Amino acid sequence: MPEVKEIKLLSGQASLLFDFDSPVLAAIAGTGGGKTMTGYWWLHSRMEAYPGNTWGMAEPTWQMLDKVILNSSDPGRPTLEEYFRQVGHHPDYSKGERIIKADFGQVYLYTAENPNSMQGAPLKGFWLDEPGQMSLLAHQTALQRVGMMRGQELLTTTPYNLGWLLTEIAQQNGKGIHVEKWRSIDRPGFPKETYEYMRQHLPPWRFRMMYDAEFERPAGLIYGSFNESVCVIDRFEIPSNWLVYTGHDFGRDNPAVLFTAHDPATGNFFHFHEYIPGPGLSVHERVEAWKKIICLPGEQGKENPKTYNVIKRIGGSVNGEEETRQAYNAHGWIINAPKLKNVEPRIDKVIGLHQLNKIFAFRDMAHYLDEKRTFSRKLDSSGQPTAEIDNEARYHLVSCEQYEMSDFTPETAIRTKSFPRSYLVKAGA
Ligand SMILES: Nc1ncnc2c1ncn2[C@@H]1O[C@H](COP(=O)(O)OP(=O)(O)O)[C@@H](O)[C@H]1O
Ligand SMILES: [Mg+2]
Repeated sequence: MPEVKEIKLLSGQASLLFDFDSPVLAAIAGTGGGKTMTGYWWLHSRMEAYPGNTWGMAEPTWQMLDKVILNSSDPGRPTLEEYFRQVGHHPDYSKGERIIKADFGQVYLYTAENPNSMQGAPLKGFWLDEPGQMSLLAHQTALQRVGMMRGQELLTTTPYNLGWLLTEIAQQNGKGIHVEKWRSIDRPGFPKETYEYMRQHLPPWRFRMMYDAEFERPAGLIYGSFNESVCVIDRFEIPSNWLVYTGHDFGRDNPAVLFTAHDPATGNFFHFHEYIPGPGLSVHERVEAWKKIICLPGEQGKENPKTYNVIKRIGGSVNGEEETRQAYNAHGWIINAPKLKNVEPRIDKVIGLHQLNKIFAFRDMAHYLDEKRTFSRKLDSSGQPTAEIDNEARYHLVSCEQYEMSDFTPETAIRTKSFPRSYLVKAGA
């Protein structure tokens, strides 16, 4: 057996590894700080403590799974399979199934591009590596899979933005969530020169996130003009005379729907429901679920319930997704193609409406808000935003919104005595 080097755990690593009770553990640390290694130790210790169980581990993408877990360019950190071998287990990696079978249990390897593919039987624990790059749904799916067995979720990541990792994890420390934070430089052996070089060469916000593990507002945010302090509001009952629009993003695997009410008096929009289905639902089942969502208050469950007046359902790409629209049309849920063919002019419309504070969202719309806080341009190597959208396929609810809003044009102020600063939004641009 190869020699196993003695390592002194960082206090953050030790504190997490000795905590078998908190439902969620989070190592939020700088790059090279020993996060992935913490995941190896966590799996190892839990598997020996609870033999005979199944575990999950996910990287954000297949490329990262391949680069970080199945292979490793770091001489100080073996592959996961090799790690198990080094500690005296007898792992066997099945490439087709992506399972590592070892002496004390088995580890299923996943990627989070499509969180529904991370669904399955109950697990004793689920480790997400770099979940700062995953959607909220990936975290929720992991929690759901360990929930039945009172298992534990481990998150090991640097911060990337001000999305769910901040709002649902870092800011909830102590509420069943155990967060430890440390900088890259805190890890014994982390090269000081690299730390100093990066400090001098990266934009300050990026350095603080990547090496000091501090949450910062990243450059390249597309919806920076969405004014949360005004436009994120407590839920209220939508009046029955308001009009409702639905935006549909068919996606590859995660069809999503945004339900939006339009106040005829002010022209303001209120996003009131986000719909993200589980896997394996038929078109019929989805349409039935949507019909329940548009019921007026108190009408749900009745035989012929009264519903909101749904004026228009919009979604799918103009050219490529006619067939999908037809499938929903056949079930009586008529979806129109959006007026604007390209994503950039659609984004411009949404930004224009944000600048007038015309779009409101209820505070409990967690997925929508997470997407709004993280939807960004790709950055180049110096940390400057490019024209390209980062990981566009992951963003479902913001595209629903873009489809809906491509029908509207923000008009300039209509000045009346009673509403000196109210704006009208006219349909049919
Ligand atoms: N407590 C520690 N003491 C010394 N070296 C460590 C410690 N924790 C991790 N390492 C080493 O640091 C390097 C980077 O660890 P890794 O877990 O890949 O970092 P990260 O995932 O945070 O980028 C690896 O070679 C790993 O073996
Ligand atoms: Mg890592």
